[in-house]
Amino acid sequence: MFIIAQLYSCFNHLFIFFSLCHDSAIMRHIKNEEVLHTMKITQIRNATNRLVYAGKTFLIDPWLSPSHMFTFADVPGHPYHIPDQVKEHLPMPFYDLPMSTEEILEDVDCVIVTHLHPDHIDISFADGTVGAPLDKAVPILCQNEEDAVVLKKSGFQEITILPKEWMKIGDASIRQVPALHGTYLPCGNAMGVLFEAKDEKTFYLAGDTIWYEEVAATIEKFRPGVIALNACAAETLENGRLIMGDEDVWNVSLAAPDARLYITHMDNVAHASITRHVMRGRLASRGVVNYDMPADGESVVY
Ligand SMILES: [Fe+2]
Repeated sequence: MFIIAQLYSCFNHLFIFFSLCHDSAIMRHIKNEEVLHTMKITQIRNATNRLVYAGKTFLIDPWLSPSHMFTFADVPGHPYHIPDQVKEHLPMPFYDLPMSTEEILEDVDCVIVTHLHPDHIDISFADGTVGAPLDKAVPILCQNEEDAVVLKKSGFQEITILPKEWMKIGDASIRQVPALHGTYLPCGNAMGVLFEAKDEKTFYLAGDTIWYEEVAATIEKFRPGVIALNACAAETLENGRLIMGDEDVWNVSLAAPDARLYITHMDNVAHASITRHVMRGRLASRGVVNYDMPADGESVVY
């Protein structure tokens, strides 16, 4: 009888424990609500995210085209090849936007484009201009002079090259940090972005990068509370693996065990080698639990 009572009590505690876990997960996932002065990230699609930070709304890497617009075989000159050749003919992005363009662009204070690749900003293959759906009067931050020239040609009116020292946007401090966009030969330059503000967790948007010593150094130096990782393990023959996969996420988790990892850039590009489904399984087998991986259209509040 005593053993049965003990078992009953044990199950009761487990039930309460799992109920609390479930509730706290739901509390952190809030759809379609703006929470001022609380950090909130909304997964739009691929690397496109809306970030509310220190009361400002940032639109990150706005790739806003409808689904199925181009394949790797359509890119002028067909410069990139995928180890699995069949993927070169898969039309991207795979999914439509989860909400209207108007909703995505509503009340955006600042656009951040980490680099000018066609899965991060809409690019016209006809004339090379970028960002057709965007309001050109909204300030835009980019990584370097080369990207600034393209943005200017595309009609953007307020372009700032994000400095490698802190600059202020409202109450947020923000700076550029290094990224490495390929294991074999980097696919051009890319940047990461750090955000700091009083009463907010430090946010590290790692961008299109693999795990390497500069990512480790950024984590070591700034101790971010939330780290966004582009992690579909996209790969080309020319560049190797372009962004993180599950092993890199695992390395970030080991380097930042107290941070929350926000996994994005999933399930929309042809050269991806893992999906959200595969990532979830592999992270479970690696014992990584400190992450969120929202579906398109979902938000996480930190
Ligand atoms: Fe990308």
